[in-house]
Amino acid sequence: MKLFPVLVMLTACAARPQDLSGKMFTFPLESNTAHVRLNASRLDFSSLTLCHRSFTDLKRDHVLFSLATPVHSNDFLIFWDYTNKEIEPHIKNRKAEFGGRDYKPNMWHSICTTWDSESGLVQIWFNGLPSIRKFVSTGTNIVGPVIIILGQEQDSYGGGFDINQSFIGMISDVHMWDYTMSSCEIQNYSDELSFTLGNVLNWNALDFQITGRVLIEDKQRIC
Ligand SMILES: *[C@@H]1O[C@H](CO)[C@@H](O)[C@H](O)[C@H]1NC(C)=O
Ligand SMILES: *[C@@H]1O[C@H](CO)[C@@H](O)[C@H](O)[C@H]1NC(C)=O
Ligand SMILES: *[C@@H]1O[C@H](CO)[C@@H](O)[C@H](O)[C@H]1NC(C)=O
Repeated sequence: MKLFPVLVMLTACAARPQDLSGKMFTFPLESNTAHVRLNASRLDFSSLTLCHRSFTDLKRDHVLFSLATPVHSNDFLIFWDYTNKEIEPHIKNRKAEFGGRDYKPNMWHSICTTWDSESGLVQIWFNGLPSIRKFVSTGTNIVGPVIIILGQEQDSYGGGFDINQSFIGMISDVHMWDYTMSSCEIQNYSDELSFTLGNVLNWNALDFQITGRVLIEDKQRIC
């Protein structure tokens, strides 16, 4: 008899955005199921900035962020290509390749990606250092309903996970904006100084749902 109110309370808590500042998602086990789904507060993007920090020791390809729509399963995807040692933003199923980044294992890396549909240019900021600006896709917006997933790469809308592209390690400080951020703000993000919180995804008020073995833990700091 007492179970019912408890369940209702848990459901309500799960749906409310949580402040994850100082926390991280830990993905401790290789699988093709464990993931976190993030709920975006906007669904139509003519430009975007995405920032996140990640920590891994994977020696294979892996996903860092996967946004799919019914039209494009790689509508906004950030992928590490281990063979070619490249960070690859995919936008509207088209890929840009950024090599020459010192993506060392066993340390945090801040990666920010900007894109705008007018110029079609994509740029990454790796630990605060900018890449060149490359053409990837122009003309049309990224339009929802979007499914955003951490930990697995969507080969279809909301599914098609490949264990060999899954993420193992930690992810933190995920923010997304529906405009291209200034380089000063991106550098501030990278240096963990003050910056404008994401208006599409906000780590400090995150609406998310965990499936499988993913933990929320305090971010460990080296003393
Ligand atoms: C996602 O966010 C929208 C708008 O903010 C809200 O209406 C919806 O209920 C949320 N979905 C989930 C699964 O929390
Ligand atoms: C994943 O990689 C392993 C080792 O390379 C391979 O044996 C396996 O078939 C791959 N699995 C899938 C689903 O691609
Ligand atoms: C960057 O951080 C510094 C120090 O916290 C702050 O004074 C400055 O206003 C920030 N710049 C931007 C563009 O947010």
